[in-house]
Amino acid sequence: MPKLTIDGQVVEVPPGSTVLQACEAAGREIPVFCFHPRLNIAGNCRMCLVEVEKMPKPQASCALPAADGMVVHTNSPTVHKARKGVLELLLINHPLDCPICDQGGECDLQDLTLFYGPDKSRFKENKRPVADKYLGPLISTHMTRCIHCTRCIRFLNEIAGVEELGAVHRGEHMEITTWVEAALSSELQGNIIDLCPVGALNSKPYEYRARTWELKKTEGIDVLDAVGASIRIDSRGNEVMRILPRLHEDVNEEWLADKSRFAYDGLKKRRLDVPMVRRGGRLEPVDWKTALAAVAERARGVPADRIAFLVGDQVDCETMVLVKELAARLGTPHLDCRQDGAPLETTPRAQYLFNTTIAGIEQADLCLLIGTNPRWEAPLLNARIRKRWRRGGFAVARIGAPFDLTYPVQDLGAGPATLEDLANGRHSFAERLASVERPMVILGTGAIARPDGAAVLALAHRLAENARLVREGWNGFNFLHTAAARVGGLELGLVPAAGGRDLAGILDGIERGAIELVFAVGVDEIDPKRLEKAFVVYLGTHGDRTAPIANVILPGAAYTEKNATWVNLEGRPQRGRLAVFPPGEAKEDWRILRALSEAMGALVPLDTLARVRERMAELAPQLAEPDRIRRAEWGSFGRPGPVDPAPFVSPVRDYWRTCPISRASAVMAECSALAAARNRAATGTHG
Ligand code: SF4
Ligand code: SF4
Ligand code: FES
Repeated sequence: MPKLTIDGQVVEVPPGSTVLQACEAAGREIPVFCFHPRLNIAGNCRMCLVEVEKMPKPQASCALPAADGMVVHTNSPTVHKARKGVLELLLINHPLDCPICDQGGECDLQDLTLFYGPDKSRFKENKRPVADKYLGPLISTHMTRCIHCTRCIRFLNEIAGVEELGAVHRGEHMEITTWVEAALSSELQGNIIDLCPVGALNSKPYEYRARTWELKKTEGIDVLDAVGASIRIDSRGNEVMRILPRLHEDVNEEWLADKSRFAYDGLKKRRLDVPMVRRGGRLEPVDWKTALAAVAERARGVPADRIAFLVGDQVDCETMVLVKELAARLGTPHLDCRQDGAPLETTPRAQYLFNTTIAGIEQADLCLLIGTNPRWEAPLLNARIRKRWRRGGFAVARIGAPFDLTYPVQDLGAGPATLEDLANGRHSFAERLASVERPMVILGTGAIARPDGAAVLALAHRLAENARLVREGWNGFNFLHTAAARVGGLELGLVPAAGGRDLAGILDGIERGAIELVFAVGVDEIDPKRLEKAFVVYLGTHGDRTAPIANVILPGAAYTEKNATWVNLEGRPQRGRLAVFPPGEAKEDWRILRALSEAMGALVPLDTLARVRERMAELAPQLAEPDRIRRAEWGSFGRPGPVDPAPFVSPVRDYWRTCPISRASAVMAECSALAAARNRAATGTHG
C-alpha cells in the first residue's frame, strides 16, 4: 500500500488510488469540477491542482496515481496561485448571470470562486457566446456557462448507456452538443442537471421558478416505480417545486429516473380536492359527512359477500392496514392488492421479492431476464445491471421481447416454451446458469400477469431449483414489480381471505351481479367498464380512469402529502414525510378509511398514525424497522399447468405515463409524444 505525506501527515492508501483520494483520506478537501467518483476520470478542468515535491509544476490530483513516498502540499501559495489562475481562466468567458441563474446558491463555480478565485478580472475583450442547445422538454441549456467538464457526456455514455451528447471543436471553440439537434432519449437524463457543476444544464420545468434558499426540503420516497428511490421534495408554500434524488447507496445511489424527477406537475393537475356523490347521473361536490353517509347508506343491508375491496399501485402501507381492518370488520373475504392480476401469493415471501437486492446485482455473474423490460419498468435497477456489465465477467440473457437495454443481451426466446425448456434442462443455457457462482434470474410482471401466470411461476420455480439459484449466502431468484404498493400489500396480506374472490373473481362477480359494492382504493389500472355495474367508492387522488365512473369519490393524499410507509421491491420498508398538504378538502387516506368505518358502524379503532403503525407491525413485523430488509424464506410456489405459447409482453408500453400522476403531467405527455415519434421514425410506422 503506497504511503504518502499530505501536508505533513502520513497516509496509507490502497494500491490504485489517486492523489486526490489520498488527500481526501488525509481529511483535505480538494476543489474539483470535472472529477466525479462514479464517472471515469477526465482530468480536464485542472481545478484539483496540488503541489507534489520533485515534480516541476502543480499536478491534477484526480488523474495522478498515488505513489509511495510522494510528498504533497494542498495548501501552499503555489497551489492557491494555481487555483486562482484556473478560475480566472474559466471566468474569462463566463457570463455574469448569477442573479438570474438557476444554479445560483448551489453552484460549484460560484462557491469555489468565492473561496479561491480572483477578485477582479483582467480580461477586457468581448466574451465568447455559445448558442444554447435543444435537449428536449426536460433539460434547458445555457451553454455560455459551460466549463467543459464533460460530466454530462460521461454520465450518458457510461451510466445511462446512450451516446447522445458529445464535444465538438477544440480549445476555445469546444462545445457540448447533441450530434443532430434532437431531444435526449434516456430515462435517466435528468441526472446530468445535478452533475453539471454550473448552470449550463437546468431543469426546464423548474427554470426561473424558485431560488434554492426559498425552498423547504423534505425527505420522501418515490412511488412512480417499485424501486423506492430516496427523494428530496423541494416545496414553496403548498406547492412542490421540484424533486431531486437523495443518496441511498443500496437503492438509487445518487441517481433518479426521469419520471420520478419530472412528473410532479401531475400532482397539481386533475386533482380530486372535494368529496363527490353521484346524483341523477352526475357527480356533485358534497361535504365529507354527506359523502361518508352516502357510502354507509348504500352499504346498509348489503351482505358482506357482495362487498369487495381493490387496492391500487401507489397506496401506502398505513392505508392498506385500514383497508384490511375494514374488510375484516365488514366481514368480506373479497380483497385484492394485485391490480395487475399476477398470481403471487403471500408465502413464501421469496416469490415476490427481489431477493438478490439491488446492490447485490453487483455481485452476480450471470443474469436471465424473463418477461421484463427493466429499462422501462425500473430504470435505476437497469442502470445497476449495466454497471455490473461494465465491470466485465457478466452476461445477460432474455426470454421476452427484444429491447435495447443499454448492454448486450442474448435472446433465448420470446415466451413460456423457452422457459419450459430451460426449467426442464433441455436448453443449453440452463447448464450455464447452474455452472456460475452467483446466477440471477429476474422474473417480470409481464411473465405472470396473464391467464397462465401461475403455471409460468411454477416453471420459474423449477428453473430456480434446477439451476440452484438459492445457495449458501446467495438468493438469485428475483421478482421485478412495477407498482410501489405491491410488496407492501403482499407483506400485509391484502389477498382474498378463505373463500374470497381475487381480482379476476371480483371483476367477474361485478359483471354477474354477485358483487354490488366495490371500494377501489387508488385503483386506476383496471378497465373502468369492468367496474361499472357495481356501486363504486373511489378513494384516490386524480380524476383519472376510475373516478369518472365512481358513485362516491373520497379525495385522498398523494405521496408527497402524507407521512407514510412504502415497501420497495427488495422488501425494504421506507418512510416518506409530508412535504405539502393535500389540496382542498382531500385528506390522508388512512384517516378517510377510519372515518368511513365509523360512518358504516364498523369502527376500526386506530385513531393515530402511531397506532396504525403498531397494528402494521403486528400484521407484518418485518415492516417495523425502516430501511431493513428481512431475508425471505424459500419454498415452493406457482401452480404447474399448461402454458400459452403467446410471447411475454412487458406491462409498461409507455415509460412516461404509467400512473394517475404521470398521466396528468403535461411534461410526461410531451416526453411520451416525443418517444412515440422517435419510435415511428425508427420503425417507419405511422399513426
Ligand atoms: Fe453564476 Fe454559477 Fe450560474 Fe455561472 S453557473 S452564472 S457562476 S450561478
Ligand atoms: Fe460540464 Fe455542464 Fe458543460 Fe456538461 S454542460 S460539460 S456538465 S459544465
Ligand atoms: Fe482534476 Fe478536473 S477535477 S482535473
